[in-house]
Amino acid sequence: MRVTINGRARELSPEPLESLLTTLRERLFLTGTKQGCDRGECGACTVLLNGEPVCACLTLTQACDGESVTTVEGLAAGQVLHPLQEAFIAHDAVQCGFCTAGQLMSAAALLARDASPDDDAIREAMAGNLCRCGTYPGIVRAIHSAAQAMRATAPTDDSTVSA
Ligand code: FES
Ligand code: FES
Repeated sequence: MRVTINGRARELSPEPLESLLTTLRERLFLTGTKQGCDRGECGACTVLLNGEPVCACLTLTQACDGESVTTVEGLAAGQVLHPLQEAFIAHDAVQCGFCTAGQLMSAAALLARDASPDDDAIREAMAGNLCRCGTYPGIVRAIHSAAQAMRATAPTDDSTVSA
């Protein structure tokens, strides 16, 4: 089977019930995605499957044939951090860091569908990502800040033709 992971096509031969989390961490050594509860409760393993956040611990790799997966390793553009990564650092949204990859992926999915989320939208989108260090206020501030930065650099529509 073939899965596109962080933009690169990968040929995989997973076990029948192998989770995407196991494949990412143990076959591909993409260990940015964390294993917490391993049963869909903590969100530490959140990755994007065709742009939608999913728990990699509950996703069978064999169900991803032909699909596209993005992990935290795919967020930055080379050496340039994603605006969310910059904002999480700037707003102290990281303490031990165990939850951070999952938080970033849920936040990235949110900003891809809503460029200006309010506090309620942020909290709802992030509800599945638990942080034992209690960085929630910093995470909300960081997402607002990243959204602002991304709006400021978003391409504008120049297609309007004046008569
Ligand atoms: Fe997947 Fe906790 S490790 S939700
Ligand atoms: Fe420690 Fe969230 S920063 S669990």
